[in-house]
Amino acid sequence: MRIVIRSGYVPRWGGLRGHGPSGDSRHEEASLYLPLKALHIISMVAWFSGLFYIVRLFVYLRETQERPSSERDVLQPQLRLMARRLWFGITWPAGLATIGFGLALLPMFWPPGLWLQLKLALVVGLVAYHGACHQMHARLQRGEAVASGRFFRIWNELATLFLVSIVFLVVLKNSMSLVWGVAGLAVFAAVLMAGITLYRRIRTRGSEA
Ligand code: HEM
Repeated sequence: MRIVIRSGYVPRWGGLRGHGPSGDSRHEEASLYLPLKALHIISMVAWFSGLFYIVRLFVYLRETQERPSSERDVLQPQLRLMARRLWFGITWPAGLATIGFGLALLPMFWPPGLWLQLKLALVVGLVAYHGACHQMHARLQRGEAVASGRFFRIWNELATLFLVSIVFLVVLKNSMSLVWGVAGLAVFAAVLMAGITLYRRIRTRGSEA
């Protein structure tokens, strides 16, 4: 097995090629590095799929509150059950695992370079986002009329912003990649919004004709 060391990035123990004859702990660390990173990425994927889907369920929970009671009384309990299972069965464990495996990797990258410092700052923002979702989840479970469907659709895109910026940063490992990542996302979002608006206009015109 050969690990390619990226330019400008040298793990603390000098990379597998650099491990010395007497560095048992370094050898151990090296052998843990890739399995830990694989588990870190797997749990990150599960965390984000939970975050994306839970906010979608918030949209439906909020919008079905305004439906006639015959519909509401059927849809709301089902949506609340789905949200509870997703939130406590997948999203929370996956978030804790992502952070756990990330912290297990951290000593191999200590002291953290600028890319990792920026990444950790973004992760603090992501944890705050998760915390806000936790509060919204609790209030919607109590049947409170939290924000609006439109708010939750925009709120959902914030998770995309975190995902794109963190992944660009950690894979490219330079702060400019964060800027390019976010700029790329902004252009993508603008094109997407223009497409959606155009589609809606055509559809409305079609239904009026
Ligand atoms: C406390 C939280 C976290 C810590 C301490 C942490 C730390 C790390 C470290 C040290 C690496 C290894 C980098 C390398 O091998 O080049 C890594 C890889 C990675 N992290 Fe995190 N991470 C955290 C949270 C996250 C989050 C929330 C995401 C979600 C987007 C994420 C996405 C990734 C990805 C995609 C990789 C693989 C990068 C690659 O293979 O080039 N991490 N993380």
